[in-house]
Amino acid sequence: MGSLTKTVVLLCVISSVLCTPFINKLQPGQEWPTRSSVKQPYHQFDEIENGTISDTVATEVAAQEEKAPENNKPKVKEDDVERIDYSGAQVWKVSTKKSNAHRVINQLASEKLIASWGGNHTSIDILVKPKAVENVTATLKNKDIAYYIMIEDLQQRIDEENPPLDENELELQDRRGHRMTWKQYHRLEDIHGFLDYLAKTYPSIVSVNSIGKSHEGRDLKVLRISDGKKTNKAVFIDGGIHAREWISPAVVTYFINQFAENFDVESDDIRNIDWYFLPVVNPDGYEYTHKTDRLWRKNRRGFGGCAGADLNRNFGYQWGGKGASRYPCSEIYRGSGPFSEPESKAIAQFFKSTGADFSAYLTYHSYGQYLLYPWGYDNALPPDHKNLETVGKMMAQAIQKTGGSEYKVGSSSGLLYPAAGGSDDWAKSLNIKYTYTIELSDTGRYGFVLPASYIEPVARENLAGLRVLASQVNKE
Ligand SMILES: *[C@@H]1O[C@H](CO)[C@@H](O)[C@H](O)[C@H]1NC(C)=O
Ligand SMILES: *[C@@H]1O[C@H](CO)[C@@H](O)[C@H](O)[C@H]1NC(C)=O
Ligand SMILES: *[C@@H]1O[C@H](CO)[C@@H](O)[C@H](O)[C@H]1NC(C)=O
Ligand SMILES: [Zn+2]
Repeated sequence: MGSLTKTVVLLCVISSVLCTPFINKLQPGQEWPTRSSVKQPYHQFDEIENGTISDTVATEVAAQEEKAPENNKPKVKEDDVERIDYSGAQVWKVSTKKSNAHRVINQLASEKLIASWGGNHTSIDILVKPKAVENVTATLKNKDIAYYIMIEDLQQRIDEENPPLDENELELQDRRGHRMTWKQYHRLEDIHGFLDYLAKTYPSIVSVNSIGKSHEGRDLKVLRISDGKKTNKAVFIDGGIHAREWISPAVVTYFINQFAENFDVESDDIRNIDWYFLPVVNPDGYEYTHKTDRLWRKNRRGFGGCAGADLNRNFGYQWGGKGASRYPCSEIYRGSGPFSEPESKAIAQFFKSTGADFSAYLTYHSYGQYLLYPWGYDNALPPDHKNLETVGKMMAQAIQKTGGSEYKVGSSSGLLYPAAGGSDDWAKSLNIKYTYTIELSDTGRYGFVLPASYIEPVARENLAGLRVLASQVNKE
């Protein structure tokens, strides 16, 4: 071999990315079937009126409808970015067992002293703004409403959440051909780089397509893992609908890594499914949580403090019903119409055009530790709810056996609150059988600001839950 050839081969060994022209030939499994190639039942998305349905996020309880943009958050200059500082803000768990509790909480929220982080029928987690601590303390004591402080200083938790990688990890990162780890929460660039790396490295089973663009023009990348067998089932998994729920994209990419890197030795249950993953549904919001406001929830279309729609209130089944707001400033703003937002619309269009016949739709959120099935829009159940309950319980059992975390199973409207316009109800309306919203860890100790050291344990136990689902899908 000439020395030039040697150099090229060496480079190829070090970094398959540099050598994509050599390995990135079109392979079976790379072309995704579409509806023009596979006959599918047709679903109408556009006729639904302001109905009623939902999504279920443990964290979307009190439908507070703000009337004006919020300009009073303190900001600090950092790396040329105005970052919102949560110093002195606290998170409390408040009992809602007393009949006046919801009224009092709603009042405090309308005065902008607190913001809801979510809850269930017996308790609610609230963010108490720094200047309001005294007032809220006095109010709850006065009304005899029980609470306890989960987070004393939110900014401190934010500062400790995502420490830099140590030297060893950085070195490994350089050698791997992608920057993704599960020891840190990564920026979108690292996540997308990881997806592209897998497609280049395993072209016979992994492929990546952008199914559309976010409002700010970022790709909505879906990664498919499939060996192309005609008999395969299909499963769709997404994460990161809500920007601040960082554990969600981290867990979804962990699944991707497990299946793509170990496909040859994976179980038949895994190998007999065409997997579609969209790890970051809301890339603009996700980047915004890294750069500006750690606790941003919505997408970023619109203006100022009232920018953004809640993508999980924007899906077109029973859109505009309970637990969704018509006010743009609200954290649960439903958008101007069903699928008004580019990110939810891209998903709808993908489902419309894909030839895949999905047996399951899983959407990962945080937090609360719930496995929720439809419906979310109202207290109603689909005909196969018993089956969904049974399979949900089996998944919860596998999670607990693997990592010890307890996940509660139920319908989202029943266990939590009605929330219309969610992706899960919409998926179920397309007759996708196993549709679940999974609220990952924790139950409020850290809430959205779960330290990066939790990524691996949370992902590992949820992989066990996913295996149960895969086995069930293969039995259908
Ligand atoms: C939609 O909402 C409008 C006003 O809120 C109401 O008049 C109408 O009956 C609703 N339509 C449906 C189908 O619920
Ligand atoms: C509601 O949340 C509280 C606090 O996290 C928890 O102790 C309780 O078990 C939850 N109840 C249900 C029914 O989910
Ligand atoms: C709390 O603040 C509101 C106004 O923001 C005020 O009306 C109320 O009296 C205050 N409550 C207490 C107990 O200080
Ligand atoms: Zn969520």
